Amino acid sequence: MNEPLHSVTTMPTARQPGCPFDPPKELIQAREQSPISRLPFPDGHQGWLVTGYDLVRSVLADSRFSSRKELMSHHPTIDYGGFEVPPAPPGEFLLMDEPQHSRYRKPLVGKFTVRRMRLLTERVEQVTAEHLDAMEKAGPSADLVTAFAKPIPAIIICELLGVPYEDRGRFQDNIDKFLNGEVSDEDQFAAYTATQQYLAELVAAKRANPTDDVLSDLLDSDLTDEELKGMSLLLLSAGFDTTTNMLALGTFALLRNPAQLAALRADPMLADKAVEELMRYLSVAKQFQRVALEDVELGGQTIKAGTTVILSYATANRDPERFTDPHVLDLRRQDGGHLAFGHGIHQCLGQQLARVEMRVAFPALLNRFPTLRLAVPADEVALRPETADIYGVKSLPVTWDT
Ligand code: HEM
Repeated sequence: MNEPLHSVTTMPTARQPGCPFDPPKELIQAREQSPISRLPFPDGHQGWLVTGYDLVRSVLADSRFSSRKELMSHHPTIDYGGFEVPPAPPGEFLLMDEPQHSRYRKPLVGKFTVRRMRLLTERVEQVTAEHLDAMEKAGPSADLVTAFAKPIPAIIICELLGVPYEDRGRFQDNIDKFLNGEVSDEDQFAAYTATQQYLAELVAAKRANPTDDVLSDLLDSDLTDEELKGMSLLLLSAGFDTTTNMLALGTFALLRNPAQLAALRADPMLADKAVEELMRYLSVAKQFQRVALEDVELGGQTIKAGTTVILSYATANRDPERFTDPHVLDLRRQDGGHLAFGHGIHQCLGQQLARVEMRVAFPALLNRFPTLRLAVPADEVALRPETADIYGVKSLPVTWDT
């Protein structure tokens, strides 16, 4: 028998004034009522909102729930007017199921292992130090996003993939445009197409002159140029935006929690734990969605084949049934297992890279600027809109004593 049904009327998106790090209040309240709620979509389609940790995790591990783009016509906040969504282009495996997904993910797994990423530590330290030097020289104030959070992950993923960073004028702003949700649909499409065009040219150039990088390594496989273009686009966009927002929003959160910041500054050994806790607490990849391929029983409800399920990673990571005092940022927290990198077959491929970057960058920043502080009142920090796939700040004005 089905459990009593809890419903929300729309997808809660607005964060409470003064609480930039917490999920929207209505989303937390929905989880308090029930870990699964009915959710109507703008097009009239009745879907589901899953907010509890156990249920989110179980959907992510269940192959009866699909990530296929062409099944994702129902969006929680945008009314697509029922137009047909095409399948993900070759290589963009985030939005594919097996066996297509593995065709692309498998050749990459060995290139993003813990060991491989640890070998990059020295380079990450060097790039971080260069940016801190530049910040110090230009200081005593800076926008932490442009001076620090954006360039460091961008340079590292470009070097790893073999994308010349000096070409960034041709892809960085465009990737921003199609990820940040602030420009028109036409402009997003144009930005996406321009990035594809750039990467098509890059793949052709690598074919002619292979270099020592992930993209060139993949030329020896049976992957077509079209597929390599799609894989590069996914890696580049995933590698840019996510870590950038974690570094900027994470610094903001530390500055608003001075005791935690002092603990991290005093004990560099805390960096590994601090990164996991900031990931849990902030959940910048706040939600993803899946579509049921068949009728599935979940949390006492029947999810009918073809219905859309929104998975709130942000509330799952704040679930009191899983985490003690979930709304407290506690860098020494013992209960791990957050879902901020996802779970199951689509679990973040770049998580070890992101970890290395954050473990180096946060302590280096705090140690270089012992008096780092916000240069504007906290409520004037510009937040990214909830329409952006990845949450964070648009800019973070900071200052320090010289
Ligand atoms: C702090 C930074 C990051 C966060 C929060 C993050 C978050 C996530 C999440 C939640 C997913 C799963 C999506 C789903 O469930 O459908 C994912 C997938 C993915 N991420 Fe990350 N990510 C980060 C950094 C990176 C980096 C640096 C790369 C660069 C290589 C990357 C590449 C990918 C790829 C390729 C996938 C798709 C995996 C698949 O479908 O098999 N991510 N990421």
